Amino acid sequence: MKIFIDSADIDEIAKAYEWGIVDGVTTNPSLLKTAVDRRKAKGEKLDLEAYIVKLLETSKPNPVSLEVTKRTAREMIEQGRNLYKRFNSVANNVNIKIPVNPAVKSDEQCHFDGINAVKVLQSEGIPVNCTLVFTPEQALLAAKAGAAYISPFAGRIDDLIRSRANIKFSKSDYFPDGGMEHNGVFLNDNGIVSGIDLVSQCVEVLGYYGYSSQIIAASLRNPRQVREAALAGAHIATVPFGVIADMLKHEKTFEGMQKFTEDIVPEYEKLIG
Ligand code: G3P
Repeated sequence: MKIFIDSADIDEIAKAYEWGIVDGVTTNPSLLKTAVDRRKAKGEKLDLEAYIVKLLETSKPNPVSLEVTKRTAREMIEQGRNLYKRFNSVANNVNIKIPVNPAVKSDEQCHFDGINAVKVLQSEGIPVNCTLVFTPEQALLAAKAGAAYISPFAGRIDDLIRSRANIKFSKSDYFPDGGMEHNGVFLNDNGIVSGIDLVSQCVEVLGYYGYSSQIIAASLRNPRQVREAALAGAHIATVPFGVIADMLKHEKTFEGMQKFTEDIVPEYEKLIG
Protein backbone atom coordinates (compact mmCIF):
# COMPACT_ATOMS: atom_id res chain seq x y z
CA MET A 1 0.00 0.00 0.00
CA LYS A 2 1.24 3.46 -0.81
CA ILE A 3 1.26 6.07 1.91
CA PHE A 4 0.46 9.67 1.10
CA ILE A 5 0.83 12.44 3.64
CA ASP A 6 -2.42 14.27 4.32
CA SER A 7 -0.99 17.74 4.84
CA ALA A 8 -0.28 21.06 3.17
CA ASP A 9 2.57 21.83 5.57
CA ILE A 10 5.80 21.85 3.56
CA ASP A 11 7.96 21.20 6.63
CA GLU A 12 5.99 18.05 7.46
CA ILE A 13 5.96 16.94 3.83
CA ALA A 14 9.72 17.52 3.45
CA LYS A 15 10.47 15.52 6.62
CA ALA A 16 8.30 12.61 5.51
CA TYR A 17 10.06 12.55 2.13
CA GLU A 18 13.47 12.76 3.80
CA TRP A 19 12.58 9.64 5.76
CA GLY A 20 11.58 7.91 2.51
CA ILE A 21 8.17 6.83 3.75
CA VAL A 22 5.65 8.65 1.59
CA ASP A 23 4.55 8.34 -2.01
CA GLY A 24 2.40 11.43 -2.46
CA VAL A 25 0.52 14.29 -0.84
CA THR A 26 -3.15 15.15 -0.40
CA THR A 27 -4.31 18.63 0.52
CA ASN A 28 -7.72 20.15 1.01
CA PRO A 29 -8.92 23.66 1.88
CA SER A 30 -8.83 22.92 5.63
CA LEU A 31 -5.28 21.51 5.50
CA LEU A 32 -4.13 24.48 3.42
CA LYS A 33 -5.67 26.84 5.97
CA THR A 34 -3.86 25.07 8.83
CA ALA A 35 -0.53 25.30 7.00
CA VAL A 36 -1.03 28.95 6.03
CA ASP A 37 -2.17 29.90 9.55
CA ARG A 38 0.93 28.23 11.06
CA ARG A 39 3.19 30.29 8.80
CA LYS A 40 1.32 33.50 9.51
CA ALA A 41 1.47 32.82 13.26
CA LYS A 42 5.25 32.71 12.92
CA GLY A 43 5.06 36.19 11.40
CA GLU A 44 5.92 34.99 7.89
CA LYS A 45 4.55 36.89 4.92
CA LEU A 46 3.15 34.22 2.69
CA ASP A 47 3.21 34.20 -1.11
CA LEU A 48 0.70 31.38 -1.63
CA GLU A 49 1.61 30.78 -5.27
CA ALA A 50 5.29 30.39 -4.40
CA TYR A 51 4.31 28.20 -1.44
CA ILE A 52 2.33 25.81 -3.66
CA VAL A 53 5.19 25.71 -6.18
CA LYS A 54 7.56 24.72 -3.36
CA LEU A 55 5.12 22.10 -2.10
CA LEU A 56 4.93 20.54 -5.58
CA GLU A 57 8.72 20.58 -5.95
CA THR A 58 9.07 18.95 -2.53
CA SER A 59 6.81 16.11 -3.60
CA LYS A 60 8.28 15.63 -7.10
CA PRO A 61 7.85 13.15 -8.79
CA ASN A 62 5.01 11.93 -6.56
CA PRO A 63 1.41 13.14 -6.93
CA VAL A 64 -0.15 16.06 -5.07
CA SER A 65 -3.90 16.67 -4.83
CA LEU A 66 -5.04 20.29 -4.99
CA GLU A 67 -8.73 20.89 -4.32
CA VAL A 68 -11.21 23.18 -6.03
CA THR A 69 -13.31 25.57 -3.95
CA LYS A 70 -16.39 26.21 -6.11
CA ARG A 71 -19.50 24.05 -6.28
CA THR A 72 -20.95 24.24 -9.80
CA ALA A 73 -19.59 21.91 -12.48
CA ARG A 74 -18.68 24.86 -14.70
CA GLU A 75 -16.74 26.63 -11.96
CA MET A 76 -15.05 23.46 -10.67
CA ILE A 77 -13.96 22.56 -14.20
CA GLU A 78 -12.60 26.06 -14.66
CA GLN A 79 -10.74 25.98 -11.34
CA GLY A 80 -9.43 22.48 -12.10
CA ARG A 81 -8.11 23.65 -15.47
CA ASN A 82 -6.58 26.76 -13.91
CA LEU A 83 -4.86 24.80 -11.12
CA TYR A 84 -3.55 22.23 -13.57
CA LYS A 85 -2.41 24.80 -16.10
CA ARG A 86 -0.68 26.98 -13.55
CA PHE A 87 0.91 24.31 -11.37
CA ASN A 88 1.34 21.04 -13.27
CA SER A 89 4.27 22.46 -15.24
CA VAL A 90 6.23 22.79 -11.96
CA ALA A 91 6.76 19.08 -11.35
CA ASN A 92 4.20 17.26 -13.49
CA ASN A 93 2.51 15.83 -10.39
CA VAL A 94 -0.80 17.68 -9.90
CA ASN A 95 -4.17 16.02 -9.61
CA ILE A 96 -7.38 17.87 -8.94
CA LYS A 97 -9.59 17.10 -6.00
CA ILE A 98 -13.29 17.28 -6.81
CA PRO A 99 -16.08 16.52 -4.32
CA VAL A 100 -18.21 13.58 -5.43
CA ASN A 101 -21.25 15.77 -4.72
CA PRO A 102 -20.83 19.49 -4.02
CA ALA A 103 -24.34 19.97 -2.58
CA VAL A 104 -24.44 21.17 1.02
CA LYS A 105 -27.96 19.88 1.55
CA SER A 106 -30.19 17.27 0.01
CA ASP A 107 -32.60 19.60 -1.83
CA GLU A 108 -29.88 21.50 -3.68
CA GLN A 109 -29.93 20.86 -7.40
CA CYS A 110 -26.23 20.24 -8.00
CA HIS A 111 -25.79 16.60 -7.02
CA PHE A 112 -24.23 15.64 -10.35
CA ASP A 113 -21.91 18.61 -10.68
CA GLY A 114 -18.99 16.79 -9.07
CA ILE A 115 -19.31 13.73 -11.28
CA ASN A 116 -19.74 15.99 -14.30
CA ALA A 117 -16.53 17.85 -13.41
CA VAL A 118 -14.66 14.55 -12.92
CA LYS A 119 -15.76 13.41 -16.37
CA VAL A 120 -14.79 16.60 -18.16
CA LEU A 121 -11.42 17.02 -16.44
CA GLN A 122 -10.39 13.40 -16.92
CA SER A 123 -11.39 13.58 -20.60
CA GLU A 124 -8.95 16.50 -20.92
CA GLY A 125 -6.17 14.37 -19.42
CA ILE A 126 -6.34 16.02 -15.99
CA PRO A 127 -6.21 13.38 -13.23
CA VAL A 128 -8.90 13.72 -10.60
CA ASN A 129 -9.06 12.67 -6.95
CA CYS A 130 -12.78 12.36 -6.21
CA THR A 131 -13.23 13.27 -2.57
CA LEU A 132 -15.80 13.26 0.26
CA VAL A 133 -16.87 9.73 -0.59
CA PHE A 134 -19.04 8.09 2.07
CA THR A 135 -20.68 5.19 0.19
CA PRO A 136 -19.49 2.49 -2.22
CA GLU A 137 -22.15 3.68 -4.67
CA GLN A 138 -20.60 7.16 -4.73
CA ALA A 139 -17.26 5.45 -5.37
CA LEU A 140 -18.79 3.44 -8.22
CA LEU A 141 -20.11 6.58 -9.92
CA ALA A 142 -16.75 8.33 -9.45
CA ALA A 143 -15.00 5.33 -11.02
CA LYS A 144 -17.43 5.30 -13.96
CA ALA A 145 -16.78 9.01 -14.50
CA GLY A 146 -13.05 8.23 -14.71
CA ALA A 147 -11.57 9.42 -11.40
CA ALA A 148 -7.91 8.46 -11.09
CA TYR A 149 -8.26 8.39 -7.30
CA ILE A 150 -11.29 7.97 -5.04
CA SER A 151 -11.13 9.04 -1.40
CA PRO A 152 -13.51 7.39 1.09
CA PHE A 153 -13.37 9.26 4.42
CA ALA A 154 -13.05 6.56 7.07
CA GLY A 155 -12.77 8.63 10.26
CA ARG A 156 -15.76 10.78 9.46
CA ILE A 157 -18.00 7.72 9.04
CA ASP A 158 -16.88 6.56 12.48
CA ASP A 159 -17.69 10.06 13.78
CA LEU A 160 -21.15 9.91 12.22
CA ILE A 161 -21.95 6.45 13.58
CA ARG A 162 -20.81 7.39 17.11
CA SER A 163 -22.52 10.79 17.08
CA ARG A 164 -25.84 9.33 16.02
CA ALA A 165 -25.61 6.85 18.89
CA ASN A 166 -24.71 9.69 21.31
CA ILE A 167 -21.39 8.04 22.11
CA LYS A 168 -18.75 10.40 23.46
CA PHE A 169 -15.46 10.14 21.59
CA SER A 170 -12.46 12.14 20.59
CA LYS A 171 -11.25 12.37 17.04
CA SER A 172 -8.34 9.94 17.34
CA ASP A 173 -10.26 7.26 19.32
CA TYR A 174 -10.17 3.88 17.64
CA PHE A 175 -13.47 2.58 16.26
CA PRO A 176 -13.62 -1.17 15.51
CA ASP A 177 -13.39 -1.97 11.81
CA GLY A 178 -16.03 -4.69 12.27
CA GLY A 179 -18.43 -2.20 13.85
CA MET A 180 -19.98 -2.28 17.29
CA GLU A 181 -23.16 -2.87 19.19
CA HIS A 182 -24.48 -0.13 21.45
CA ASN A 183 -27.55 -0.40 23.67
CA GLY A 184 -28.57 -3.57 21.87
CA VAL A 185 -28.34 -2.03 18.39
CA PHE A 186 -25.66 -2.87 15.87
CA LEU A 187 -24.51 0.56 14.69
CA ASN A 188 -24.22 1.35 11.00
CA ASP A 189 -24.77 3.99 8.38
CA ASN A 190 -27.00 2.40 5.75
CA GLY A 191 -25.10 -0.88 5.97
CA ILE A 192 -21.66 0.61 6.49
CA VAL A 193 -20.50 -0.48 9.95
CA SER A 194 -17.26 1.51 10.18
CA GLY A 195 -14.97 3.79 8.22
CA ILE A 196 -12.73 0.87 7.37
CA ASP A 197 -15.78 -1.12 6.27
CA LEU A 198 -16.49 1.76 3.86
CA VAL A 199 -12.94 1.54 2.48
CA SER A 200 -13.19 -2.22 2.22
CA GLN A 201 -16.54 -2.12 0.39
CA CYS A 202 -15.22 0.50 -2.06
CA VAL A 203 -12.16 -1.66 -2.79
CA GLU A 204 -14.34 -4.75 -3.22
CA VAL A 205 -16.91 -3.16 -5.51
CA LEU A 206 -14.36 -1.54 -7.81
CA GLY A 207 -12.24 -4.68 -7.78
CA TYR A 208 -15.06 -6.85 -9.18
CA TYR A 209 -15.32 -4.72 -12.29
CA GLY A 210 -11.69 -3.89 -13.00
CA TYR A 211 -11.87 -0.11 -12.63
CA SER A 212 -8.45 1.51 -12.70
CA SER A 213 -9.32 4.14 -10.06
CA GLN A 214 -7.15 3.85 -6.97
CA ILE A 215 -8.83 3.93 -3.57
CA ILE A 216 -7.24 6.38 -1.13
CA ALA A 217 -8.29 5.57 2.45
CA ALA A 218 -8.66 9.08 3.85
CA SER A 219 -9.62 10.72 7.13
CA LEU A 220 -7.47 8.20 9.03
CA ARG A 221 -7.00 9.12 12.66
CA ASN A 222 -4.80 6.45 14.24
CA PRO A 223 -2.20 3.82 13.26
CA ARG A 224 -4.57 0.90 13.64
CA GLN A 225 -6.83 2.38 10.98
CA VAL A 226 -3.84 2.60 8.64
CA ARG A 227 -3.15 -1.10 9.25
CA GLU A 228 -6.80 -1.93 8.62
CA ALA A 229 -6.84 0.15 5.43
CA ALA A 230 -3.88 -1.95 4.22
CA LEU A 231 -5.66 -5.17 5.19
CA ALA A 232 -8.77 -3.94 3.37
CA GLY A 233 -6.70 -3.66 0.20
CA ALA A 234 -6.72 0.14 -0.15
CA HIS A 235 -4.25 1.14 -2.85
CA ILE A 236 -3.22 4.18 -0.83
CA ALA A 237 -3.69 5.52 2.69
CA THR A 238 -3.38 9.24 3.17
CA VAL A 239 -2.14 9.83 6.68
CA PRO A 240 -1.62 12.99 8.78
CA PHE A 241 1.93 13.62 9.97
CA GLY A 242 1.12 12.91 13.63
CA VAL A 243 -0.42 9.54 12.79
CA ILE A 244 2.64 8.62 10.69
CA ALA A 245 4.78 9.35 13.74
CA ASP A 246 2.48 7.26 15.96
CA MET A 247 2.83 4.31 13.56
CA LEU A 248 6.36 3.81 14.86
CA LYS A 249 5.49 3.73 18.54
CA HIS A 250 5.13 0.65 20.72
CA GLU A 251 5.85 0.28 24.43
CA LYS A 252 7.79 -2.94 23.89
CA THR A 253 9.97 -1.21 21.30
CA PHE A 254 10.74 1.48 23.91
CA GLU A 255 11.37 -1.13 26.58
CA GLY A 256 13.59 -3.18 24.26
CA MET A 257 15.63 -0.12 23.36
CA GLN A 258 16.02 0.74 27.02
CA LYS A 259 17.41 -2.74 27.76
CA PHE A 260 19.67 -2.85 24.68
CA THR A 261 21.04 0.56 25.63
CA GLU A 262 21.75 -0.55 29.21
CA ASP A 263 23.47 -3.72 28.01
CA ILE A 264 25.96 -2.14 25.62
CA VAL A 265 29.39 -3.69 26.03
CA PRO A 266 31.85 -0.75 25.91
CA GLU A 267 34.37 -2.71 23.79
CA TYR A 268 31.66 -3.39 21.22
CA GLU A 269 30.75 0.26 20.98
CA LYS A 270 34.44 1.16 20.66
CA LEU A 271 34.67 -1.24 17.72
CA ILE A 272 31.76 0.25 15.81
CA GLY A 273 32.34 3.90 16.64
O1 G3P B 1 -8.01 13.30 3.61
C1 G3P B 1 -9.16 13.80 4.19
C2 G3P B 1 -8.85 14.34 5.51
O2 G3P B 1 -8.01 15.42 5.45
C3 G3P B 1 -10.02 14.59 6.38
O3 G3P B 1 -9.60 14.19 7.61
O4 G3P B 1 -9.62 13.91 10.02
O5 G3P B 1 -10.59 15.98 8.97
O6 G3P B 1 -11.75 13.80 8.76
P1 G3P B 1 -10.46 14.50 8.91
